[in-house]
Amino acid sequence: SEPLRLGIAGLGTVGIGVVKIVQSMPEMLAERTGRTIEITAVSARSRDKDRGADLSGYAWEDDPVALAKRDDIDVFVELMGGDEGPAKNAVEAAIAAGKDVVTANKALLAVHGQALAEAAEAAGLRLRFEAAVAGGIPVIKALTEGLAGNRIKRVMGVMNGTCNYILTRMQDAGLDYQTVFSEAEALGYLEADPTLDVGGIDAGHKLAILASIAFGTQVDFPAMQIEGIERVSIEDIELAAEMGYRVKLLGVAQMTGRGLETRMSPCLVPMASPLGQLEGATNMVVLEGDSVGQIVIRGAGAGEGPTASAVMSDIADIARGFRLPTFGAPASALTRARAATSTAP
Ligand code: HSE
Repeated sequence: SEPLRLGIAGLGTVGIGVVKIVQSMPEMLAERTGRTIEITAVSARSRDKDRGADLSGYAWEDDPVALAKRDDIDVFVELMGGDEGPAKNAVEAAIAAGKDVVTANKALLAVHGQALAEAAEAAGLRLRFEAAVAGGIPVIKALTEGLAGNRIKRVMGVMNGTCNYILTRMQDAGLDYQTVFSEAEALGYLEADPTLDVGGIDAGHKLAILASIAFGTQVDFPAMQIEGIERVSIEDIELAAEMGYRVKLLGVAQMTGRGLETRMSPCLVPMASPLGQLEGATNMVVLEGDSVGQIVIRGAGAGEGPTASAVMSDIADIARGFRLPTFGAPASALTRARAATSTAP
């Protein structure tokens, strides 16, 4: 079969991680997906920068939109990060040009995911974003594939590693919020705009995406209840510990009699529970289905290898020809997709 040709926009940590995986295991990827996966072209802000990977075999585009439209790519891999605006333009251009899209951009998806997913579906294309939620943890695939036979009752978890680092460090070392915040900054954990982390927004984006998939509905992100960890004091943490609890920045989405409830806020969780024992810059997601009960997945929510691993799983899905929608598509779109699947040869 034809090789699957990638255009990668954004050569930061994650982009380079993907390049390294594609270059280092071509036979294994071909065996697993039935197609050779190759990179045709790349784009990033500055061309002359040593990124620790050999990019000499790839065409270069300064403009991600130009990359998205190239005739010699099948999949547009958007790993630009930063402001959602340029990423949105490039993803829209890719869909208009008939390309499947893989993105790790949670801010983009939390706000525009539904519209982009509908545009992609209408064009018979795939939009995949495993890396946007909880980095290396394959939580979207767990929900959409592994739990396909369940009504999802609740999705919850710790979805920001930086906040989990800050809270566990405060607790273990007895240090106050400001001191540990500065430590996290020195370690390079914080996003360029730290409010995204400590204000709960990054985690909120991830919860909005998960909730829309789990419950098949669009989550109104701006209306979501979000509280960060800025006001969690060492006294809160110590008092909670005396009573057998840990303070975690916990996201919860559940269907109730009043409809879908989503919130991201500091919560008390029992010390002895899996969530209570989650230490350091790690993520954990708890999925609850009516048939399976509760399952818990934990792992690295950020970093080159883990995030690139998730991006590759999407690329592999596309190489295998998977077509199912994965966003909170409206019922009509889901029905169309099911009909299309069931009549496929
Ligand atoms: N700042 C995020 C975190 C990185 O700490 O989890 C991945 O979104």
